[in-house]
Amino acid sequence: MGYIEDKNNFAIQTFNITRKFGNLTAVDGVNLGVKKGEIFSLLGPNGAGKTTIIKMLCCLLRPTGGTGAIMGYDIQEEPLAVKSIIGISPQETAISLHLNSLENLELICGVYGMSKEETKKRSEEILELMSLTKRAKDRAGKLSGGMQRRLSIAMALVSDPLVLFLDEPTLGLDPQARRSMWEQIAGLKGKKTILLTTHYLEEADALADRIAIIDEGKIIALGTSGELKNKIQDKQIMIVKAKNLTHEAIEGLRKIYPDAREIEGGVEIRAKEISFERIVNYLHSEGTKIESTLIKEPSLDDVFLQLTGKEIRE
Ligand SMILES: Nc1ncnc2c1ncn2[C@@H]1O[C@H](COP(=O)(O)OP(=O)(O)OP(=O)(O)O)[C@@H](O)[C@H]1O
Ligand SMILES: [Mg+2]
Repeated sequence: MGYIEDKNNFAIQTFNITRKFGNLTAVDGVNLGVKKGEIFSLLGPNGAGKTTIIKMLCCLLRPTGGTGAIMGYDIQEEPLAVKSIIGISPQETAISLHLNSLENLELICGVYGMSKEETKKRSEEILELMSLTKRAKDRAGKLSGGMQRRLSIAMALVSDPLVLFLDEPTLGLDPQARRSMWEQIAGLKGKKTILLTTHYLEEADALADRIAIIDEGKIIALGTSGELKNKIQDKQIMIVKAKNLTHEAIEGLRKIYPDAREIEGGVEIRAKEISFERIVNYLHSEGTKIESTLIKEPSLDDVFLQLTGKEIRE
């Protein structure tokens, strides 16, 4: 097969790609097409198969069924061509903690056979791009978690890859570092095709042009964040926090809104349309002391909940 004809401008394609580990099917017949220049997110809980897909696409792990292609090159038949056009920032950040930021980058430049001048120029450019210039001479082990992640992405960018794989780029970062990382990634938009995995819904929502929700090795939904949220039948969600909410009151609510469910310190009501007044009046008539109310639009979390019956967060 080798070069797969690409009529649709796809940078990444998978064709029924599958990976079994013994009896476990970690990736189960996944079909994806990531367009050139797109930021595409694989969103799913722990163990969904995200890293396994990335490893296969980066030729680090062989599929046990199906295949994939990067810029038309089959990952199994043209691994050298594939490796020459991709960059990967793995989930377990692969930086040398005893080297400084600059030395880490120089090491990768060396792997790509760059001259001394090229190495200097490229390292400086990339440090600047990932806002690490000031920390060039600091040992990687002394950088914050967010900076280490940025260095890991910097290393993936050394070869100026067409396609960039970011496996959980913000795992374990605090909210501020996460947001700053989002800005860095958004800054690459249009310059690279990016496949990023995450189990943070907000991250996929904020960054990705399109999102594939993956669970137990299968893609269960795919689209823009808006398209995914439109899949939800219950368009409105109301959360009522109340002190003395009784089971009887919740049962009564269920007669009006069958999907009302008890949550910590209150009740959550989902429906196509919610009457705020009706709910408040009913709860008052039951003697409930309402502390707060909130009506919200469905989030990707709710999409996942509806599709799988479970929450994405562990
Ligand atoms: N080398 C391996 N040998 C056996 N099982 C494996 C191996 N690698 C992954 N698995 C299993 O495959 C499944 C998918 O793992 P994978 O790492 O792809 O999930 P993930 O979506 O990346 O999860 P996380 O969000 O925790 O990173 C898991 O059940 C995992 O235990
Ligand atoms: Mg993973």
